[in-house]
Amino acid sequence: MPDFNAAITGVQGWVPEHVLTNKDLEQMVDTNDEWIRSRTGIVERRLLKGEGKATSDMAVEAVGRLLEKTKVAKEDIDLVVFATVTPDMVMPDTANTLCDKLGLKNAFGFDLKAACSGFIYAITVGSQFIQTGMYKKVIVVGGDKMSSIIDYEDRATCIIFGDGCGAVLLEPTQEEVGFRDAILKSDGAGREYLYIKAGGSKVPTTPETALAREQYVFQDGRPVFKAAVKGMCSVVEELMQRNGLTKDDVAWVIPHQANQRIIKAVANGLKMPMEKITVNIHKYGNTTAATIPLCMWEWEDKFKKGDNIILTAFGGGFTWGAVLIKWGY
Ligand code: UT7
Repeated sequence: MPDFNAAITGVQGWVPEHVLTNKDLEQMVDTNDEWIRSRTGIVERRLLKGEGKATSDMAVEAVGRLLEKTKVAKEDIDLVVFATVTPDMVMPDTANTLCDKLGLKNAFGFDLKAACSGFIYAITVGSQFIQTGMYKKVIVVGGDKMSSIIDYEDRATCIIFGDGCGAVLLEPTQEEVGFRDAILKSDGAGREYLYIKAGGSKVPTTPETALAREQYVFQDGRPVFKAAVKGMCSVVEELMQRNGLTKDDVAWVIPHQANQRIIKAVANGLKMPMEKITVNIHKYGNTTAATIPLCMWEWEDKFKKGDNIILTAFGGGFTWGAVLIKWGY
């Protein structure tokens, strides 16, 4: 038993103003609104515009509002765990930049890279520091400026992704709420289906890699689709089973928003009615580490204290998993 439970005491999201619609994409690549809607469920996505604007700027908006909303002083924040695959820079970590920009003077922070599973890995990591009693105020951020790594000439990927950020505050409680359990998985054999070829230590960026557009995301969608459905169904089932929960005991499932067909297939696999599943992919597309906190933010008013909520994600790596939380307010 942990010394404390890690309660989520606030959630906040932020998305940029600029909207990229399916109709806009029709002008950019060989695609059409009907294909995008029927194959993905996406209608529009948000893009962060502006010279020098980066992932940390979206986090400043989300976390700044979160602190105002929860009335927590900046100097009381102990730790920031920042899930992202689009850090402002390869080095230093975006968490450090965020702490500096927001004035979180007493916090230390680090980035966590688990692609679309970033937020569920990060909330699990952040919760451990609360449960041991080591820290009292931990912020977990999921944010990605996917438009910085998407090739707007590649119709297989540019229709899917968008930019956004969400964050939660974790605090200790003796009540039986908050983070309860997690099953996290990874399998590096999946790396051939979803990756960015250049810009790492294996293939550093050169003029040639830039010409070959290798700084952008590559995805072989079909195998990822299949693995995502199988992976999420299996971890959610295992998580429910080992916590003695039936589907009727679960108030909400918050799945990563990668494709509406994936979400529906997971709901079918779990025999869970769509009314219990949060879906906002039509508005934001796939914002990678931000999809789950953005859903939590938009559904916050519907959650009731004591609700069992399962977060589940699947993404590049492969990485996947499921987290059980009990809503605390
Ligand atoms: O979040 C991280 C994890 N990622 C995921 O979970 C994503 C998983 N994969 C997917 O969501 C889907 O595989 C995609 C949305 C990426 C693609 O949908 P799909 O139904 O698997 O399509 P497909 O790749 O099998 O392509 C079907 C056809 C192809 O044409 P042919 O070969 O049948 O003639 C594609 O060339 O659709 C074509 N196509 C398009 N047509 C219009 C591919 N992209 C487009 C497009 N517009 N944007």
